[in-house]
Amino acid sequence: MTSSILSESTVGGMLKTATDRLTASGVSNAAWEARELMAAVLKELPVLVPLRFREEVPAAPRAVWDRLVAERCGRKPLAQVLGEWSFGDLRLLVTPDVLVPRPETEEFFSWIVDRLPPRLFSLADVGTGSGCLAIALARKYPGAYVWAVDVSPSALSVARRNAAAHGVGRRVFFLEGDLMSRFSPGLHLDAVVANLPYVDEKDMESLDPEVRREPALALDGGRGGLDVIRRLIVQAWEKLLPDGQVFLEIGHDQAAAVSDLFRGMGYRKIEVGRDFAGVERFVAGTK
Ligand SMILES: C[S@@+](CC[C@H](N)C(=O)[O-])C[C@H]1O[C@@H](n2cnc3c(N)ncnc32)[C@H](O)[C@@H]1O
Repeated sequence: MTSSILSESTVGGMLKTATDRLTASGVSNAAWEARELMAAVLKELPVLVPLRFREEVPAAPRAVWDRLVAERCGRKPLAQVLGEWSFGDLRLLVTPDVLVPRPETEEFFSWIVDRLPPRLFSLADVGTGSGCLAIALARKYPGAYVWAVDVSPSALSVARRNAAAHGVGRRVFFLEGDLMSRFSPGLHLDAVVANLPYVDEKDMESLDPEVRREPALALDGGRGGLDVIRRLIVQAWEKLLPDGQVFLEIGHDQAAAVSDLFRGMGYRKIEVGRDFAGVERFVAGTK
């Protein structure tokens, strides 16, 4: 309807054409995504874009628009096209070097906070990626130090920029290394949180095109998807204070196996949490 009354160079006309192109490319939420892209081009809030449907868009922003729409039609993740993404009330820089923060991880953060005591001294976010969990935790616990670890130096540089942008750069300490191998022997933690790679290596080829453009290092959990998680459960034990807790985000079918790993290591109070879709997505254990 919009296209019949609005020319190709108006906001409404451009949205209509882009929605059709995105749909033809297999993007499922095409109209919503087109609006997000237009908001970025116009530097406008997405919710206000419809108020500008009749506006003619000048040539320069139209050229930017054409590039963004083409990238998205090539199934580059929307967050990578925009270069930023939301995690709760945080707006985070996102590059192809980091996993795009997921809504399930926002739920994971709330689940963790509901189970942690109100005062904490030291926490670790292992496999920090964009830094979403480390930054959210540092903001939630202003008296705590947060160690943010990643094996990927390029992910860490994104996380550092995000921490600085959100004013917690001095309380989040970034470590490059394999899981907890770089922690000094004397350091002990109240809690370890981690959303580590958990995709079964045999499923890597069948991931959606967008997901395949995210770092394999962030996704590939080896055999059964549990290779990295298994090692963390062992390493965290050494680093936790008595009554310290480990919180893990896991794959949809891993709750029983991960609970067994916790039990086998001697953790107590093993608890499984579900995401909004009802999927068992989080597991916690206490030392
Ligand atoms: C699933 S992503 C999660 C990123 C972020 N925590 C989030 O929730 O959006 C997993 C992260 O773990 C990192 N990683 C993978 N193996 C690791 C290891 N052995 N030691 C430390 N980090 C690792 C990856 O580089 C990636 O940034």
